[in-house]
Amino acid sequence: MSNLITRTTELAMSVTLTYIKPGDTVIDATCGTGQDTVVLARAVGNEGSVYAFDIQKSAHLLTEARLKSHGITNVHLKMQSFVSMSDHIPERSAAAVVFNLGYLPGGDHSITTTADTTLEGLEAALRTIRPGGIVTVVMYDGHEEGAEEKKAILEWAEDLDQSRYHVAYVSLLNQKKHPPEILWITKK
Ligand SMILES: C[S@@+](CC[C@H](N)C(=O)[O-])C[C@H]1O[C@@H](n2cnc3c(N)ncnc32)[C@H](O)[C@@H]1O
Repeated sequence: MSNLITRTTELAMSVTLTYIKPGDTVIDATCGTGQDTVVLARAVGNEGSVYAFDIQKSAHLLTEARLKSHGITNVHLKMQSFVSMSDHIPERSAAAVVFNLGYLPGGDHSITTTADTTLEGLEAALRTIRPGGIVTVVMYDGHEEGAEEKKAILEWAEDLDQSRYHVAYVSLLNQKKHPPEILWITKK
């Protein structure tokens, strides 16, 4: 049997998918190579749509190519920071917002998500998800910026009003090589 807890990004997505149905609007906050975008686009189907953000042209080109090769047409690609998601999607309307933090795999490691913008993006995500929706965050603390970012996110998440949100955090406690960690936030 496959061991899902060792494949953190897949685990993060498999839980996220249980909050999404065909016809929904969802957000891929950091589309990168477009892997998550494809999974989300399939989950919402042709009646739904995905808004996919990334600040790098190279990420857009990779995502565009991947979408094309899968024949996917229900994705709005935005070459903008995820902090601008509220300019494109009405409040309380998205089923899910997915953040896969850090830098583009195979890209420039100096272009990475940062604590300040990520916290701003997370606030925007909480406004954008509908009641019953989910914000999923995959965090990497194996690089300096990522470690600071994770600390800031966990401090912020711990203080979220428990009457409005449920927060869950997954860490592979005995693993020394800094595997990704997951934060899920659901809105009542
Ligand atoms: C780990 S990668 C995402 C991987 C992606 N989910 C995939 O399936 O390939 C992180 C991405 O976040 C992007 N990024 C960094 N800061 C951003 C911001 N403020 N808004 C949107 N994307 C950002 C980077 O350019 C990078 O492509």
